[in-house]
Amino acid sequence: MSICYLNGNFENLNQAKISPLDRGFLFGDSLYEVMLSSKGNIFKLDLHLERLNRNIEELGYKIPREIDFGQILQEIVHKNRHINQIVYLQISRGEDQVRNHIPSETITPTIFIYSHPMEDNFGLSSGEKAMLVEDFRWRKSKIKATSLLANVMCRIQSKQEGFFEAILYENENVTEGAVSNVFFCKDNLIKTPPTSQNILPGVTRAVILDILKKNNIACIEEDFTISQLKTADEIWVTNTTKGIIPIIELDRKKVGSGKPGKSYKRVAKLFLNELKLS
Ligand code: PDD
Repeated sequence: MSICYLNGNFENLNQAKISPLDRGFLFGDSLYEVMLSSKGNIFKLDLHLERLNRNIEELGYKIPREIDFGQILQEIVHKNRHINQIVYLQISRGEDQVRNHIPSETITPTIFIYSHPMEDNFGLSSGEKAMLVEDFRWRKSKIKATSLLANVMCRIQSKQEGFFEAILYENENVTEGAVSNVFFCKDNLIKTPPTSQNILPGVTRAVILDILKKNNIACIEEDFTISQLKTADEIWVTNTTKGIIPIIELDRKKVGSGKPGKSYKRVAKLFLNELKLS
């Protein structure tokens, strides 16, 4: 059984209780982070905390001064012991006395953290299939909020139709995946939509962009359309739990050669090297 942290206490996950009047439950008024830990170290913890703190500020959650997320996260990783873990953190605005869209002045956030063993081994992928779905999410997908109903609907649809991921587009422009960011490679130039788009600024996206720059691999943050995507030599999707995955079929048509491309293999090796999973 996993140990979790809930509002100041470490306890067994199956004993942890949250009020039904919690705004995370009632309104999806809550934020989250998903992180990867290996041998006790959380990968790019600083980037996850930066994004979390930005979102906390944007939503005006009042986190008590004494809360040190980095320290609690390390403690959870330590208590749950698995070599490779996925660590989940969620903060809601807190629990109300009655349901009201406007939060009470005195509300204090609910903070929940737990981890589970990581199932993937993150080797080189043999490729996955994706489908295109119109992006019908809200206009603030930059915020890593738990109100993910649109993403959940896209994930269910893609699973039912036999796809690994749904790649979303808005006004013909690719935005991101339902749970990932998207990279597109054509004629040795790699593109990913800029964060001015309605997308989540992914930590894995940032790490990959950094790897590309450091290794002088041509890359720009620029919009591209679904018609351009359909002519791609390579497509990759990235996120914390899967790393970097090549998409070898889009809407049941081969992407490039229909096999993981050479840029994918090069970048994925550099990424795995940086990750140093055990
Ligand atoms: N989600 N875009 C969306 C919509 C996502 O849900 C995610 C990840 C990403 C990639 O972000 P990062 O590289 O920081 O993991 C992009 C997590 C894994 C989830 O919801 O489980």
